[in-house]
Amino acid sequence: MSTLLISFLLLVLLTSVSSIEFIYNTNFNSTNTLLHGNATIESSILTLTNSFTFSVGRAFYPFKIPTKPPNSSTPLPFSTSFVFSIAPFKDLLPGHGFVFILSPSAGTTGVSSAQHLGLFNLTNNGDPNNHVFGIEFDVFDNQEFNDINDNHVGVDVNSLISFTSHAAGFWGGGSGDKFVDLKLNDGENYQVWIDYLDSRVNVTMALAGQKRPQRPLISEFVDLSEVLLDEMYVGFCGATGQLVESHKILAWSFSNSNFSIGDVLVTRYLPSFVLSKESALRSKGFIVGTTAGVFFFVGSAVVIFVFFLRRKRSKRKEGEVHFEDWELEYWPHRVGYEDIYAATKGFSDQNVIGCGGNGKVYKGILQGVQVAVKRIPCDCEHRMREFLSEISSLGRLKHRNVVPLRGWCKKEKGSLILVYDYMENGSFDKRIFDGDENTIFGWGKRVKVLKDVAHGILYLHEGWQVKVLHRDIKASNVLLDKDMNARLGDFGLARMHDHEQIAAHTSQVVGTVGFMAPELIHTGRASTQTDVFSFGVLVLEVVCGRRPNEENKPALVSWLRRLVERGEECSALDERIKGRGQYNNNEVERVLHLGLLCTHHDPHVRPSMRQVVKVLEGESLDRSLLDRINSAAGYAGSFSSTIYPTIDEIFSSQCFLTTLCGNESI
Ligand SMILES: *[C@@H]1O[C@H](CO)[C@@H](O)[C@H](O)[C@H]1NC(C)=O
Ligand SMILES: *[C@@H]1O[C@H](CO)[C@@H](O)[C@H](O)[C@H]1NC(C)=O
Ligand SMILES: *[C@@H]1O[C@H](CO)[C@@H](O)[C@H](O)[C@H]1NC(C)=O
Ligand SMILES: *[C@@H]1O[C@H](CO)[C@@H](O)[C@H](O)[C@H]1NC(C)=O
Ligand SMILES: *[C@@H]1O[C@H](CO)[C@@H](O)[C@H](O)[C@H]1NC(C)=O
Ligand SMILES: *[C@@H]1O[C@H](CO)[C@@H](O)[C@H](O)[C@H]1NC(C)=O
Repeated sequence: MSTLLISFLLLVLLTSVSSIEFIYNTNFNSTNTLLHGNATIESSILTLTNSFTFSVGRAFYPFKIPTKPPNSSTPLPFSTSFVFSIAPFKDLLPGHGFVFILSPSAGTTGVSSAQHLGLFNLTNNGDPNNHVFGIEFDVFDNQEFNDINDNHVGVDVNSLISFTSHAAGFWGGGSGDKFVDLKLNDGENYQVWIDYLDSRVNVTMALAGQKRPQRPLISEFVDLSEVLLDEMYVGFCGATGQLVESHKILAWSFSNSNFSIGDVLVTRYLPSFVLSKESALRSKGFIVGTTAGVFFFVGSAVVIFVFFLRRKRSKRKEGEVHFEDWELEYWPHRVGYEDIYAATKGFSDQNVIGCGGNGKVYKGILQGVQVAVKRIPCDCEHRMREFLSEISSLGRLKHRNVVPLRGWCKKEKGSLILVYDYMENGSFDKRIFDGDENTIFGWGKRVKVLKDVAHGILYLHEGWQVKVLHRDIKASNVLLDKDMNARLGDFGLARMHDHEQIAAHTSQVVGTVGFMAPELIHTGRASTQTDVFSFGVLVLEVVCGRRPNEENKPALVSWLRRLVERGEECSALDERIKGRGQYNNNEVERVLHLGLLCTHHDPHVRPSMRQVVKVLEGESLDRSLLDRINSAAGYAGSFSSTIYPTIDEIFSSQCFLTTLCGNESI
């Protein structure tokens, strides 16, 4: 016990000196990852090797990390966890494997493909000057390296002849002490935990999404004090030979101090790279057939297989869903059609909870969780593909103001099914337009919703590496969760719309009339500024309690502009807000002005979502927006034929700016 305590204290002491921690949750990109050889990033997933023979890829955390404390030979402890998938290609025999490594150099010099796994080459294998420590996931049985089988995990110290190794799998099946085999390259996602503490390395693995097995697969004492240098690159390498497969890392965390760092990894609803049953069976039959008739050379060092494969297009059974390669790349996870069918009681009418422009929405229970299932008729594959590529770039779309997308599924005959978390409190438009006394929102709650929505849009625009446009922001696309947080739904879906509801000049334009920016109607080109415009209309709706286009009434935006020009904007406030009191005139004015500015006819004058959030949160505005407003006013002044000169002058007036900026002087 006391040694444990001492080593813990030592750990605390050591790690306070130099400690590294990082987390990747399907957000690998070329700036946060160092790529060498054939390593690439596809849909934010790290892919070490490609489909060509003899490919080598290496990928690292971009900086060397300290592996020993200053002036000490005792290596720092570490804990790392990752989710990997080794995906076979259809009709091709799979090989060879990948390695988690600590290495003094990052590049691909001195490394070979095939059985050398991108780790060493023929001459430097076993050299103590390599200073390389690795955990290999090897799917080829190399006699030269004393491999135990063609599906094993091994600890490699400067050599591909493993220090120790074990068949892949975990302890803990059955009554808790049975060993369960796992097949490394069946395309499943597996989570691995590697802990190094007090010269002992523990390696544990399980199917991703399952609990960490208690007993490690490998637990071995390895003295790394002579192996590790003071600073090392940490990452992965992998290789293929004549046999090819794709080595993918989906998520990865590392820490010198937190041995629970594996818990932060998102391990569920990841994309699946498992081949369909049919083609897996076919390749098995193929292996049996060919091995019988082919000469097998297990010679000096290299094993060469040459296969000529005739690619047959797989015959599809009636009604069976067929997935294109690009679909396999996208996540969140595809959900089985059968599961969705069962969850919604066969898309029964009793389960319908909504019927929007995009199609029907059903309520259902999937894996014990309440979900909303949206079925969108769409027979246009390229639009579906664009949509999926856009939403998949958001990774797992986790933001408290965005409706979580749990997964998706494509039916053969042109319909896309999306599975969302169920939002207990329904859509926001019911709380401003149609609700009764009890459900209609007062001022405070409305402003809270606007803030939530603004944060949600900002996340779509700037929160991930690829910008996502919502394209259809309106009150009915804002949903309220069980804690009454507002969340944006239906992002990006506008591009899947039928075009009927759009009165537009070109068939390209998508969105909802009344919420579309003028330049969107003219050019059909959506942008972050057209989203800002729609948000502005939403703001005005919320303040006035009026839909943008009500019959026999002037359009909301121009009506408000006229009120402002006449200095009568106070009369715009929704009567139902007035009835409740509890609002502050200055704040009403600020929010209203913000809405007007967002709906400015010139997209360059509209604020960015970041600036919108600032105004709503009462922070001071930055100079650039003020300059843009002022220059728009100057422009309007010199060309009196501009449509809204008066409102621009109002926009640039001291009084208008002061309301936007709170008490801040400009
Ligand atoms: C990467 O793959 C290409 C084929 O796409 C191959 O020509 C090249 O040599 C590979 N590079 C490395 C370092 O493996
Ligand atoms: C490490 O050793 C060097 C030379 O022996 C010395 O100059 C330096 O101060 C030491 N650093 C620490 C952190 O003890
Ligand atoms: C193996 O790598 C070492 C170190 O980079 C290099 O000196 C050597 O020439 C390489 N050997 C082969 C056979 O590629
Ligand atoms: C490694 O595994 C052994 C055996 O299960 C266990 O006693 C030890 O605490 C583990 N070490 C770490 C750092 O988890
Ligand atoms: C360690 O990481 C886990 C998972 O992220 C986290 O819940 C826990 O708070 C962390 N512990 C410390 C001491 O930072
Ligand atoms: C890469 O991802 C990181 C987060 O891990 C992010 O901060 C960075 O902006 C991204 N870079 C690019 C070019 O997308």
